[in-house]
Amino acid sequence: MPIHEIRHPLVRHKIGLMREGDISTKKFRELTAELGRLLAYEACKDFELETVTLQGWAGPVEVDQIKGKKVTVVPILRAGLGMLDGVLDMIPSAKVSVVGIARNEETLQPAPYFEKFVGHLGERMALIIDPMLATGGSLVATCDMLKRKGCGQIRALVLVAAPEGIALMAERHPDVEIFTASVDSHLNEQGYIIPGLGDAGDKIFGTK
Ligand code: PRP
Ligand code: URA
Repeated sequence: MPIHEIRHPLVRHKIGLMREGDISTKKFRELTAELGRLLAYEACKDFELETVTLQGWAGPVEVDQIKGKKVTVVPILRAGLGMLDGVLDMIPSAKVSVVGIARNEETLQPAPYFEKFVGHLGERMALIIDPMLATGGSLVATCDMLKRKGCGQIRALVLVAAPEGIALMAERHPDVEIFTASVDSHLNEQGYIIPGLGDAGDKIFGTK
């Protein structure tokens, strides 16, 4: 399973800023959206192009356009919503499918509680978005749901990925490419990523 850790200086700088312990909700939210944009940019870099002819200001002009790629963005509630606007800035015609999964804080098992998928998933590439890939349970459950609905092309955009989650995805969904701003060190005993960002959902929504 390919894991793409984006080493671009803007990405390195922004993910670094997000690690500050007492970062404000406003700043954390802004950086989440900005990194959503940059990861979406990377995740689309192999989209096929076709040449079309437009009427330009000085006559006909040949331009490149993305060739019929249909995308559904799939935020995992709640924290995935923080990346949604940024990703849609880059792919404004994408449709949005929503998955609700809460990680049980004791067992760390994913508990799905909501799903609403757009139609024709078999024709679409799904871009799952969630700031955190920790044990991998939530991402695996989302891929399971999408594949049950016929989706055959899935990519995942996560701000921070733990080796444990990457390993679980490699075992359960080796076909899913993951784009991340950082592969971090490990999970602590509570299942939080170290050094990580803390609880991304709480920081985006200002809860706790
Ligand atoms: C967090 C995070 C992921 C999940 C990652 O969500 O946003 O969805 O945990 O952990 P995992 O890889 O071990 O499954 P959480 O369940 O805390 O919900 P929230 O988004 O509502 O804060
Ligand atoms: N969910 C988070 O928000 N942060 C972690 O480090 C792990 C799971």
